[in-house]
Amino acid sequence: MAKNFYIMFGPPGSGKGTQAEVLGKRLNLPAISTGVLLRKEIENKTELGKKVESIMAGGNLVSDEIVAEMIDNRLKEKDAAAGAILDGYPRTLNQQDFLLNIFKGMPEAKIIPLLVDVSDDEVVKRLSGRRACACGATYHMLYKPPKNDEICDICGKKLVIRPDDQPEVIKERLKVYHKNVDPVIDYWEKSGKLIIINGEPPIKEVTEEIEKKLKELGAGV
Ligand code: AP5
Repeated sequence: MAKNFYIMFGPPGSGKGTQAEVLGKRLNLPAISTGVLLRKEIENKTELGKKVESIMAGGNLVSDEIVAEMIDNRLKEKDAAAGAILDGYPRTLNQQDFLLNIFKGMPEAKIIPLLVDVSDDEVVKRLSGRRACACGATYHMLYKPPKNDEICDICGKKLVIRPDDQPEVIKERLKVYHKNVDPVIDYWEKSGKLIIINGEPPIKEVTEEIEKKLKELGAGV
């Protein structure tokens, strides 16, 4: 059986997490976000959570080793047996090598890299209006508001502003993104496999473009 692994690239706030969730539901595959997994560790006050909290709040990357173990374990879970949507991994060339090595052991794996392309200016607008829930759900006060003010539609918890969504940290995250992820994206662009999606239109239109491009490629939708 073919296993499709969709890798969502895009700057912080581009909407890759939002689209990963939609695509995951559509394809019945888990959307795996290293950011969400790390925030759960922080929420649960684990040793790992304590170690990464200040790194994430400052907008920096946690070590390749930490995320490698996390992604390796997550991909071994039953729900990822038929593939997955990866959101936020890989983010360095080292992480990319690690992932490609995992896929080497899965001859039936097909990798589908997608870039949700959004300008840095739009990123700032999106992240300043974002509200997040500990359960992983994400909202935007203008573009995707919760039904009840600042309360999660899914689990009813109070929504929060992520510590890394402060203006100074957003600037740092963009810098970190361009330095570390641009080379990974270059690799996929040169391979001729990268699907580039204009991430600037409203959420629904971006979803439609993703579905259209995947359909053209016969890649699962
Ligand atoms: P992570 O949680 O992955 O953060 P990120 O990559 O910076 O991405 P975001 O979650 O901020 O944005 P998104 O693109 O998913 O956008 P969203 O859909 O939410 O990582 C956080 C931290 O964890 C990292 O900084 C690092 O420290 C660490 N980390 C994670 N992975 C790591 C790794 N592999 N290696 C090392 N460290 C790692 O949308 C944003 C907002 O816009 C929302 O409010 C949404 O509702 C809205 N929106 C979405 N689409 C649209 C649209 N089309 N129009 C209008 N609004 C929209």
